[in-house]
Amino acid sequence: MPTDSATYRLFFAVWPDAPCARWLDEQVEHLHHEYGGRQTPPRQHHLTLAFVGEVSHSQLAIVEAIGRQIAAQAEPCRIKLDKLAVWPSGIGCAAPTRTPARIRELACALNSALKTQGLPYEERRFRPHVTLLRKATPAARAPAAPDSFALLKIDHLSLVVSRLTRSGPLYQELRRWQLGPVHDGS
Ligand code: 2AM
Repeated sequence: MPTDSATYRLFFAVWPDAPCARWLDEQVEHLHHEYGGRQTPPRQHHLTLAFVGEVSHSQLAIVEAIGRQIAAQAEPCRIKLDKLAVWPSGIGCAAPTRTPARIRELACALNSALKTQGLPYEERRFRPHVTLLRKATPAARAPAAPDSFALLKIDHLSLVVSRLTRSGPLYQELRRWQLGPVHDGS
């Protein structure tokens, strides 16, 4: 049984469906070919909505309650991944040119609830992206626009634990909620 000294490095995220995951796999190849770096392993691609950070076992239940409540109040939407970027930090990623207001609102609602509960939360500006490479070499030339795009469905919210290993972070989904009100079938 976990003690309260156990800590969990958590974040809220959304996972791509199969067509979007295939598109992301293709983009990793293009980007890696030009910029090198370490590829995010297949099936680990995700879009982070709110990074939480290290929490204790007793705080985990509060984070779960936040996820459940905010997912029930949110409406599903989609985000169009139509650009590739390599940031000065060495992150190579797929990102949207335009971020729908609903996604900003969802990210903002999660962060505000974490803050209200006295939990760790991300103070940096929300910059939606799917990390494809780490330790890539940023070049003077930005990546060319991909010749296709993918729609990432924001129809669920996942609470994910990140474990740092020697070969990079490993992500495991702890909970998943569909977005929208919960129907009890009555
Ligand atoms: P990244 O892929 O751009 O590093 C788990 O670490 C997820 O949370 C990753 O998607 C990571 O984004 C994101 N994240 C957001 N803010 C973070 C922070 N301050 N530290 C680590 N990861 C963060």
